[in-house]
Amino acid sequence: MKDQLEALRLQIQQDVKAAKTLEDLDQIDVKYLGRKGELTAMLKGLANVSAEERPVLGQLANQVKQTGLGLIAARRDELNREKISVIAETERVDVTEPGIRPPEGHLHVMTQTIREITGIFEKIGFYRTRYPEVDWDWYAFEALNMPPEHPARDDWETFFMDAPVSDKKKQGKMVLTPHTSNAQIHELERHEFPIRMLNIAKCYRRQVDATHTPMFHQFEGLYVDKDVNITHLRGVLDYFAKEFFGPGRVSRIRPHHFRFTEPSFEVDFSCGVCNATGKVNGQKCKVCKRGWLELGGAGMVHPNVLKACGVDPKKYSGFAFGWGIERLAMMKEGTQVDDIRILYQNDVRFLKQF
Ligand code: DAH
Repeated sequence: MKDQLEALRLQIQQDVKAAKTLEDLDQIDVKYLGRKGELTAMLKGLANVSAEERPVLGQLANQVKQTGLGLIAARRDELNREKISVIAETERVDVTEPGIRPPEGHLHVMTQTIREITGIFEKIGFYRTRYPEVDWDWYAFEALNMPPEHPARDDWETFFMDAPVSDKKKQGKMVLTPHTSNAQIHELERHEFPIRMLNIAKCYRRQVDATHTPMFHQFEGLYVDKDVNITHLRGVLDYFAKEFFGPGRVSRIRPHHFRFTEPSFEVDFSCGVCNATGKVNGQKCKVCKRGWLELGGAGMVHPNVLKACGVDPKKYSGFAFGWGIERLAMMKEGTQVDDIRILYQNDVRFLKQF
């Protein structure tokens, strides 16, 4: 029986050494040392040995059991450590590695353009104003030299508000501002000179097609002081052409008609692709077709507008301009947008280009 016990100890030793997993160890434990294991079976045989031998063999059996348990525990530790080091290797996180950037948005191309325009005008002393986008008829039309029922009003496809008429003299109905020119009146009413206003706001008109959205943006400039003349306007236009479109670009003015300016002009900027020639390699320029890009209106503030605001036209004069921001952004080289509506469709694939 002594030999059997020694053989069992050896067997356990070999099996434990060969064990590859924690499950193998559990099986070894059950097989040799468990309640129905081989050692227990042998201990039952002790009943048949002589009284002298019994304590010796009993002690030996106990030693075999302790050795077995010790070996299993040591191997279990070893396997656990191996397992952890495998995890440490395969599931390693290198905290010094650059992280994965979460998707990051940026300002809408309109906001970017508004900021750029503001910066350009601030450099020459203009300040940004904000006036209501829901305003009285007086500011949107009447004080701008467009009396009620005047046909010129038809050029602005205005949204009228379903709201009571003002009880103040002459203010009339409420409208969604169809242009930013209402700001001229608000600013002139303050009677603080010089006025170097840049008003940027949303405008609303009943129009939707590839070149119109019912909501769009304009920026309105107004410069009023003593002795302001057309050369000042020309200087500001050329300055803007160079700042916004790039050096080498110039502006030109063509006669036009607006009720609130006299004289009035259409303002064009030289095309950067054909350099105002209208031709690229003998072919018609695809961008402008005629050498110039039309932006919008300008002119010298009409004396009637000054008078409507209580400003003496003999003392003060000034110029104004009002242009669409969407149009301006689309005129910038490289911005190949052929349908203005896409600016407001919130398609990230489009917006992220800017
Ligand atoms: N308000 C005009 C429009 O929306 C544009 C305009 C023309 C503004 C001439 C001006 C100006 O200040 O002087 O069509």
